[in-house]
Amino acid sequence: MRDHTPTPDLVTEHPERIHGYAYGTDEAADSPLTMEDLDRLKAAVWLTGDDERALRDAAEILADQADDMVTAYRARLGDQPWLRAYSGHPDGTPNPEYGAATKPRFDRWIIDACTRPLDQDWLNYQHEIGLRHTRMKKNATDDADSLDHIPMRYLLAFTAVVITTARDYLGAKGASPEQVDRMHSAFTKSVMLHVTVWTRPYVGPDAW
Ligand code: HEM
Repeated sequence: MRDHTPTPDLVTEHPERIHGYAYGTDEAADSPLTMEDLDRLKAAVWLTGDDERALRDAAEILADQADDMVTAYRARLGDQPWLRAYSGHPDGTPNPEYGAATKPRFDRWIIDACTRPLDQDWLNYQHEIGLRHTRMKKNATDDADSLDHIPMRYLLAFTAVVITTARDYLGAKGASPEQVDRMHSAFTKSVMLHVTVWTRPYVGPDAW
């Protein structure tokens, strides 16, 4: 695969037009974590400089597949009544408006997870995403009528789906098996880092 940097529009393509996407703005929560916490977690998950380069390659491959990836996650969530409940109305009926409102932000996350620098804005928006899975902020962005909290056990368990299914998408554009391995390993570490930080609002500082 050719060695290239991501096209700038992957990072800057009018994300401000996505409703509720507060990355880098004052509307995102302030993270309680420090840059030192982040550096230590980054080391714990073993995210290396080569992984960061591999993630840039992955961004190129995933950019036009992010929408399909999120559609596939949602199909998987929709197959399981105990998971789909959190995207529907509280009475169990479907809530397609809520799904439509949140999808562009989820699509965007796939690219962000491969391209965003790990800085204070990153920490803040990851805390915000964590809050948006909990009763502290779920539904608030879209004024949605839905259950108010996604149990942490499902957030963690679903990480397996996000990680394992990425492999086929990474391999869909002709990269060699070695390159797919390299990108998949980096993507795995990135997803684990994100979801780990998202658990912070669920857990008191001492236990976390
Ligand atoms: C590793 C697992 C997961 C990932 C990577 C993920 C990712 C995301 C992302 C990126 C967003 C949009 C955040 C934003 O507003 O910018 C989001 C929101 C949401 N996710 Fe997840 N999610 C995961 C697990 C789950 C599970 C298991 C469920 C349901 C059972 C779920 C339901 C939702 C819902 C309902 C929203 C909208 C929250 C709101 O009201 O703002 N997610 N998720």
